Amino acid sequence: MPQAEPIRNMFNNIAGSYDLLNDLLSLGIHRLWKKRLINELSQTNPQSMLDCATGTGDIALSFLKVNPHAKVTGIDFSANMLELAKEKSPKIQWRVEDVTKLPFQENEFDVCAISYGIRNVENRAQGLSEMSRVTRDKICILEFGQPENPILKAIYFTLMKYFIPLMGKVFNKEGAYQYLIDSSMKFPSGEKMVAEIKQNTKFNFVEYKPIMGGITYLYIASRKEK
Ligand SMILES: C[S@@+](CC[C@H](N)C(=O)[O-])C[C@H]1O[C@@H](n2cnc3c(N)ncnc32)[C@H](O)[C@@H]1O
Repeated sequence: MPQAEPIRNMFNNIAGSYDLLNDLLSLGIHRLWKKRLINELSQTNPQSMLDCATGTGDIALSFLKVNPHAKVTGIDFSANMLELAKEKSPKIQWRVEDVTKLPFQENEFDVCAISYGIRNVENRAQGLSEMSRVTRDKICILEFGQPENPILKAIYFTLMKYFIPLMGKVFNKEGAYQYLIDSSMKFPSGEKMVAEIKQNTKFNFVEYKPIMGGITYLYIASRKEK
């Protein structure tokens, strides 16, 4: 289980190189994965959106581009990550907050997102429950997982085992990138995550879409089937 304080320190420490490393490690593909989440969130013409664990603000910023009239809020408990987000847009409300203790009213937001954040939350059940409390219509979660096909899974994790630590060495952030591999290998994906979302939110319709064979997953939780 991730521990909140070491996680916060880790992100405060890697904030300056986070955007660059994200592009290098995924060869820029994370942008396409995030686009799918934005499309899903934007379907019902939402007027307000909360981006939890916003980091350097990718999701909040892309959402605002597609929904320029929406009220967008981004929260993260790493002040250094959020500092970089703040420099990117004054139109978004950026706040240093913990997803397990959200200072918002019930149903304050139409939609809510968390992208590559939920894996890092120490009390995941509480984080999901808080996101559910403050959201009216839909929650979208983007997160790493394990490929469903065993051959793809073996190839993927072998590549991760050698490539990511190498990058970690080059950028002198070995601990952070070892953590990325370890946590992705263990994180519940597919139906297991769907069960967790159902258990901890008010949303009774939860579906998931494996992306690139299940390297990453998009979870969509709403009140009823579309
Ligand atoms: C891998 S980054 C993801 C950033 C961004 N959402 C993206 O997709 O690039 C994970 C973020 O989760 C944040 N985080 C982890 N636990 C948190 C918590 N309990 N409350 C708020 N933020 C948290 C970290 O500070 C970090 O910025």
